[in-house]
Amino acid sequence: MTQIYITLNNGTKIPQFGMGVFMVPEGEETKQACLSALKLGYRHIDTAHAYQNERSVGAAVRESGIPRDEIWVTSKLWPSEYGEGKTMAGIDKMLERLDIGYIDLLLLHQQVGDYMGAWKDMEKAVAQGKVKAIGLSNFESERLEEVCEAATIKPAVLQVECHPYYQQDALKKRLAPYGTVIESWYPIGHGDPGLINQPIFTELAKKYGKTNVQIILRWHIQEGNIIFPKSTNPQHIRDNFDIFDFTLNDAEMQQIKELDNGKRFYTSTLEEQERKFSAWAPED
Ligand SMILES: NC(=O)c1ccc[n+]([C@@H]2O[C@H](COP(=O)([O-])OP(=O)(O)OC[C@H]3O[C@@H](n4cnc5c(N)ncnc54)[C@H](OP(=O)(O)O)[C@@H]3O)[C@@H](O)[C@H]2O)c1
Repeated sequence: MTQIYITLNNGTKIPQFGMGVFMVPEGEETKQACLSALKLGYRHIDTAHAYQNERSVGAAVRESGIPRDEIWVTSKLWPSEYGEGKTMAGIDKMLERLDIGYIDLLLLHQQVGDYMGAWKDMEKAVAQGKVKAIGLSNFESERLEEVCEAATIKPAVLQVECHPYYQQDALKKRLAPYGTVIESWYPIGHGDPGLINQPIFTELAKKYGKTNVQIILRWHIQEGNIIFPKSTNPQHIRDNFDIFDFTLNDAEMQQIKELDNGKRFYTSTLEEQERKFSAWAPED
């Protein structure tokens, strides 16, 4: 199937479409989901230390038989691993868990803790060849600009909640000076039926002979968002990737633009994030 790429601000090319494995249990479930996706032509997997399934992602990459440099793997450091020196140790442990030689894209998962110290180590890890690209996740406060302004290597991506109800136009403007692109988490609202069954998606699905989810995913692609919908259902894994043989026209893109109503599926204040994300640490 078709694979399309976005050139990041460091010159590397990331597959714009992939699969996420949030909440997929470590072991056979993660490994088989990744293997079936890779077999279909997926070349991008999004995991995190916090998901506790990096070992299974790495096993799938190794077992797939696909050359390592054709697969893009993103993972994320948890705040318990932030800090100069400490973060490098965290990266080395991540490399051991994944066991795939290097990490294509490494993100700071949350905007709390010693994220400035962590960024310095991530820049060193790029220089040492352990990591190809670095970026942020969930940095939507002024801490985004704090990191971007101080960084020698500007964040390649910012991974945030983004879907037709919450399209992140203001954030995209803030990112433009750094050449940072948006990665959408909850691209289909974590499977929310209210979003998926919006009449405009049903209408367009009928017109193009696609499913409502395929229309939403196609919209993300045309918006320039990097996406990795999660699925462990073989039919969904197949359908989600089958979105490269049609194009929504400008009027249809505009109709979807009008669904933006500021609704988020996950909200919390910076204080809540400080409290919650500092109180837990993933196992090695
Ligand atoms: N950085 C962060 O803080 C953060 C937070 C959340 C997520 N993420 C990343 O973003 C990825 C995607 O987010 P997400 O997994 O939470 O939500 P999502 O991809 O928006 O939705 C996943 C849900 O939709 C269902 N689904 C998938 N394809 C479908 C289809 N074709 N038709 C109907 N239902 C379908 C899945 O069920 P089935 O498995 O049954 O198909 C699952 O319940 C994650 O896996 C993770 O990699 C990052």
